[in-house]
Amino acid sequence: MAEVVIVESDAEAGEIAASAISALVRERPDAVLGLATGSTPLTTWRALAAAGTGLAAVRGFALDEYVGLPPGHPESYRAVITREVVEPLGLTPSLVRVPADDGGPISGAGERYEADIVAAGGIDLQILGIGRTGHIGFNEPGSSLASLTRVKTLAEQTRIDNARFFPSLDDVPTHCITQGLGTILRARHLVLLAFGSAKAAAVAAALEGPVSASTPGSVVQMHPRVTVIVDEAAGAQLEHADYYRYAWANRFDWERWS
Ligand code: PGA
Repeated sequence: MAEVVIVESDAEAGEIAASAISALVRERPDAVLGLATGSTPLTTWRALAAAGTGLAAVRGFALDEYVGLPPGHPESYRAVITREVVEPLGLTPSLVRVPADDGGPISGAGERYEADIVAAGGIDLQILGIGRTGHIGFNEPGSSLASLTRVKTLAEQTRIDNARFFPSLDDVPTHCITQGLGTILRARHLVLLAFGSAKAAAVAAALEGPVSASTPGSVVQMHPRVTVIVDEAAGAQLEHADYYRYAWANRFDWERWS
């Protein structure tokens, strides 16, 4: 089952996620990271920057990207990843990819991205947020559990949630290109983070509800190595919270990352 860690703050969650990344990169300096945008991973990036882990050889693949924004738009995920991850963490820009960033046509971009991930040897550790719709990446409810990178239509709730980054809701793109649930399942370690009460229902449905395309995040139940790090508010609807706390407090030394 997933390892579920319930913490006091998003800062503490970021420390734990960053320690997983640091441990991986110490072992393998050219590890392949799956990168996420949104508010959720920010404390992870901050903690990783503070740790001073050398990331210049790390390769990165972002989960998703909007379709339809002009090149260089500040809210494109290429721009967000550059601003929030590549520059502050000292990644090498040419080693970090975002879907459909290869200059080719949008048709076939998903297949090309998949091929590039495979050529890199696959993703070692994938950072994930979860949306209120239960999406991971931009895989909205109804996404095939076996889906690979492809163009999708955004759910209206997701557009509303992301409107805070744009002048108005009308400016939020209607489409995206996202790693699929099948792509995410191929990563070797999934680290899913969620904070705040708005995520509580989605977290509980993903971890403890039925595995279903209606709750795309529930696909993590089919992955052999998942670490879920939530604050108290996001974990508030977890039925087995006491067990998760007990298991985390009593893990063996060899299970610790650092
Ligand atoms: P957020 O988004 O980190 O901005 O809350 C997470 C997501 O929608 O996957």
